[in-house]
Amino acid sequence: MYQLIYVSDKPSTFTPNDMNDILRSARENNAKYGITGLLVELPEHFIQILEGTQDNVEYIFNLIYEDPRHKNIRVLLTAKTRAREIEAWDMGLSEELDPTQLKDALYILNNFSEKQNFSDIHRQSLKLLLTSLSHK
Ligand SMILES: Cc1cc2nc3c(=O)[nH]c(=O)nc-3n(C[C@H](O)[C@H](O)[C@H](O)COP(=O)(O)O)c2cc1C
Repeated sequence: MYQLIYVSDKPSTFTPNDMNDILRSARENNAKYGITGLLVELPEHFIQILEGTQDNVEYIFNLIYEDPRHKNIRVLLTAKTRAREIEAWDMGLSEELDPTQLKDALYILNNFSEKQNFSDIHRQSLKLLLTSLSHK
């Protein structure tokens, strides 16, 4: 399996309709290509982790990379994993989080998404956070 995490900037022109269209494409394509992961929409950014075979992750990521509905895409991490770590494809944070956990997670994600460059500590902690948030 192969994982890719990126952060991007959300334009001020982005609408809830854009999000609905993205979700529709993502649900269909990700199921078709065996992609799992998590997409988090923040006030000014997106953070997404994608998991699948390397070819399929790269194929979907190329589509996402060319998408004019976001910009300044920073790839934080690409990694091979022995087994699939993320069970499903989803959008948003788990509703099972209690409000304090949710607040902490959003605080960290918001902070990280401002960055243009990432250290190993950023990479590994964001990966842990996203994979733990995606387990439901
Ligand atoms: C932040 C963001 C996340 C996206 N995530 C996915 C995704 O996980 N899977 C996907 O197929 N498309 C995703 N898209 C949409 C793709 O860029 C592209 O529009 C879509 O794959 C086109 O597929 P369609 O022509 O089959 O609808 C995303 C777009 C944005 C802006």
